[in-house]
Parts: sequence; C-alpha cells; structure tokens
Amino acid sequence: MSFEEFWTRGDIHERVNTALKDAKLLDKKIEIEDLFPLDQYHARGIKATIDLADKVNFKRDSNIIDIGCGLGGPARYFAKKFDCNVYGIDITGAFIDIGNYFNKLTQVDHKVKLLKGDGEKLPYETEFFDGGLSQHVTMNIDNREQFFNEAFRVLKKGAIFGFSEHGLGTKGNPIFPLPWADSENMSFLKTPEFTTNLLKKIGFENIKVISTGEKYISGYDTLLKQGKPDEKPTLGIHVIGGETMLERSKNSMQSIIENRTYPFEIICNK
Ligand SMILES: C[S@@+](CC[C@H](N)C(=O)[O-])C[C@H]1O[C@@H](n2cnc3c(N)ncnc32)[C@H](O)[C@@H]1O
Repeated sequence: MSFEEFWTRGDIHERVNTALKDAKLLDKKIEIEDLFPLDQYHARGIKATIDLADKVNFKRDSNIIDIGCGLGGPARYFAKKFDCNVYGIDITGAFIDIGNYFNKLTQVDHKVKLLKGDGEKLPYETEFFDGGLSQHVTMNIDNREQFFNEAFRVLKKGAIFGFSEHGLGTKGNPIFPLPWADSENMSFLKTPEFTTNLLKKIGFENIKVISTGEKYISGYDTLLKQGKPDEKPTLGIHVIGGETMLERSKNSMQSIIENRTYPFEIICNK
C-alpha cells in the first residue's frame, strides 16, 4: 500500500464532500472553526493544535512552515492566531487538494498556501522561514536526520520549531494497526532521547521535551466513546481515517498505556 493509499483510504474527496453537505456547510459562508472537527488530523484534534500554538510565539506577518500539514487545519489555525503566512507541505496529494479547497471556503487562501511535497526534500530557499511546526508526522519518517536537517536548513537563525509525535516507549513493540501505519513498514518510532540527541547534533538549541501521554489517553477515550456508527458525529476524524480509524485509535491508546509508545512535543530553536 502506498502512502497516498494509506492516508486517503478510498475516495476521500467523496467522503469529505458528503460530510460537508450533511453538515450543511456548503450553502453558507464558513469560518475556519467550522472545519476543526474534520481538518485536524490527529487524535486530540484542535486541542492538540492549540496546545502547540500556545508554546510558540510566531510574529505577525512572519512566514511559517508546516511540514506534513495534512488537510491544512493546523496551518489555518496558526495563520489566524498569529496573523502570519503559513506554507504547508504534505506528501499526500489529495490532502493538499482538499486543504487548498478548504482555504478558499474559509477565505484564508491569501495567508495559507499548501503544496504537495516531501518533508525530506523541502522546495524552499535556505533560511526563508521565521518559524516552523510539524504535528504527528515524524512517525512516518525513516530518515529522521534528513527530515530535521531540511527543517533546520529552511529556518532562520533563532527561529522556533515546534513539533509533536508518538515516540517509542520503554517497552517498544506498538500494537498495529495504528493511526499512522497499518504495519511496521510505515512506522519508525524513536525515543525522545534519540530525537533530542539528533536535534542537538544538527544544531537545534533550547530543546524542551513535553510528555503528552496522559492527554492522548484522554483524547482517545473521548474519540472511542463516539465510536458506534449511528452515534458518530457528521464531521469527525473517521471521515478522513475511514472504517478502521476506531480500531487504530484503540491500539494507539493501549500502546501508550502499556508504554509501547510515548507521545511528546518538542519546542526548540535553530
Ligand atoms: C497524522 S497526519 C497529521 C496531519 C497534520 N499535521 C495535522 O496535524 O492535521 C500525518 C501527515 O504526515 C504526512 N506525511 C507523512 N510523511 C511525509 C513526508 N515525508 N513529507 C510530508 N508529509 C508527510 C501524511 O501525508 C499525513 O498528512
């Protein structure tokens, strides 16, 4: 299964359009907040994005990169909160198409630009960005050194880089399938110590690691309570993640509880 197939799971355009129609969002002017239940593609949804945004301080009119931006939900939130320009890049073409459509629907296409591309080969000039983020992407990245080297290259000296991931826990052996991978072929988890050492080697400074395990357990708990097909909200992570989202979320929650995985955020400076 390719990355695109894994992340889109069939006709994602059709699923998204049906959900927007059912939620009656196609017949009126909508705001970015209307899409939060659909466009924040990680278990804690908008709460996780707000948490990350509260730990960085991007300046008005600055240029920010979002690596692995998905459908652009976090990018739109950051653009609005900080009144900055956000350049999102993601390897899944369908997410970029839908994300740019969402930018138009919410009238933020002048501030948020999404592009299909690989986080390991960023198509941007060296030292172009004033800050960066990457939410729940690195679990898919085998060559972490290349990924973080690229982030480092495109950031200006002193720029803040904030990201989050499911790291490897002390027990290891996560339970598959997971929200980011159906099997080991797509999952490359690293301990926070490994990541911190790598970031230092690359040149990042002021590295702060924040454990988010408890918050994720509670986030998954809420998600699983919405589980029954006839009780699912019209807009939700299941629209993007497809039918196995529930099982994958359950495994992710259990993997955290059993210390197989260890979710964390990192905030650092170039
Ligand atoms: C869990 S989703 C998170 C999306 C978004 N950051 C969010 O929080 O809503 C992980 C994303 O990482 C993207 N991704 C995985 N590997 C990538 C790579 N090498 N370059 C860019 N994006 C990648 C996937 O396509 C997917 O959209």
